[in-house]
Amino acid sequence: MNPIGSPPSSTLADFEVTLPADDDIGVRIAGLDARTLTAGQAAEVRALVYEHKLVVFEGQDLLDAEYIDLARVLGTPQVYFQHNYHHPDHPEIFVSSNLPFRGQKIGVAGTGAYWHSDCSFFTEPLSLTMITPRVMPENPRTTLYLDLARAFEALPEHLAQRLLGLRSIHEAKWRYKVQPCDVDKSLTELLEAFDALAPAVTHPAVIDHPVNGRRCLYLSSGFTVGFEGLPAEESRTLLAEVLALMERKEFIHEHRWAAGEVTLWDNRQLNHCAGDKHENDHSTSYRIGVYDELEFYTNQPAGRLLA
Ligand SMILES: [Fe+2]
Repeated sequence: MNPIGSPPSSTLADFEVTLPADDDIGVRIAGLDARTLTAGQAAEVRALVYEHKLVVFEGQDLLDAEYIDLARVLGTPQVYFQHNYHHPDHPEIFVSSNLPFRGQKIGVAGTGAYWHSDCSFFTEPLSLTMITPRVMPENPRTTLYLDLARAFEALPEHLAQRLLGLRSIHEAKWRYKVQPCDVDKSLTELLEAFDALAPAVTHPAVIDHPVNGRRCLYLSSGFTVGFEGLPAEESRTLLAEVLALMERKEFIHEHRWAAGEVTLWDNRQLNHCAGDKHENDHSTSYRIGVYDELEFYTNQPAGRLLA
């Protein structure tokens, strides 16, 4: 137990919880040592993240094992399907880094610099994502978040109705990061191998949130490649039209990294994208995916794309 730990009966109301403005996202929690988060407080945190889409724990100083423990209190930590992202000691930690660790390459440099919702290319996407910087870059760094519920609400009615009847196709192979073991393999071989590991899937283009029923566009320029059942040209045109309406400044929240912060967000309601970075910067961040054990959405089942 940390000396500043909370008594078992405490709730988040005992800490400094700052809610966002009405048209913004993101709750900030200060004064709480995340190592002491109780199951009851974790339920409150999940309620906050479903309501406000993003939660930031300020001023944490977690060992790797304590960070994983936090994920376990919030839900079930993910072990990412590609091992080259794993921390060598902790497979639950997905590493984004351009710095060596014990003299070796660790994780992947430059992850997620495109709009996406984590693991939308699986039939069971990742519910929540948690990230903390481990080595802060020399220059300011941001992560951008796109509010998918507000983007849906703002669609013209005819487009909203059209999308409610469509399924989007998600695939990640175009984002595959080539590894040292890929030398001498053709791009076709690499793409086919990835397809076997993570074949394209379909989801409703608009999903109903399992907790609050909010309707969210479930599309991204990073992983969505079209709509099931539409002719290719029509699918491309519609996707481009929707993405242009979604990826507008008014729906984007910019989060600036700060040392010691742990950021948690709801992948059902937000797309995210790494902000610009200075090419000479060195940084390391640790992500842990967290499954909350709820259905990802309640309106229609996920599916495999039929060839
Ligand atoms: Fe991501």
